[in-house]
Amino acid sequence: MKKIMFVCLGNICRSPVAEAAFNHIITERGLDLKYSSDSSGTSAFHIGADPDPRMQATAEKHSVGMQHSAQEFTKSHFDEFDYIFAMDESNYDNIITLTQNQKIRQKVHMLRSFDPMAVTPNSDVPDPYYRGGMDAFEEVFDIVWRSCIEVIDLLESGKFSA
Ligand code: 4NP
Repeated sequence: MKKIMFVCLGNICRSPVAEAAFNHIITERGLDLKYSSDSSGTSAFHIGADPDPRMQATAEKHSVGMQHSAQEFTKSHFDEFDYIFAMDESNYDNIITLTQNQKIRQKVHMLRSFDPMAVTPNSDVPDPYYRGGMDAFEEVFDIVWRSCIEVIDLLESGKFSA
């Protein structure tokens, strides 16, 4: 079983929807005994909270259910998870600060570096929390959906080994 961790700031918008999208796709493809995913935030702001209602409504529109209780990313997750995907550069930097060696650093990736439609390499999944409109949440859903498909295809091709 390969274990994947998605990480954002609050763990109520981007990373829990990435977790939900990833789990939805692997279940649809019958791969749920090979992979599992979870999510967390680099801040403790929302520990124990449900996903943001705007993110949940957007996921539901795409028939993707979200069930998650926000948790903080900790050093112990480096041992537990094989792949760690940060949503933006600030999350990435915060995770890297906690790493102690190159072997662990190699587990950490920018999710959007797997977005086939990203214009620049290693771009951010934009934080929708303060942007207000539902368009921002729709954009996040589309980005994480495309990126998760690419990650799963790469994992399945054997070209992306931990
Ligand atoms: P997320 O969005 O990192 O995608 O879960 C945010 C949620 C909350 C805050 C910032 C971003 N906040 O500042 O409370």
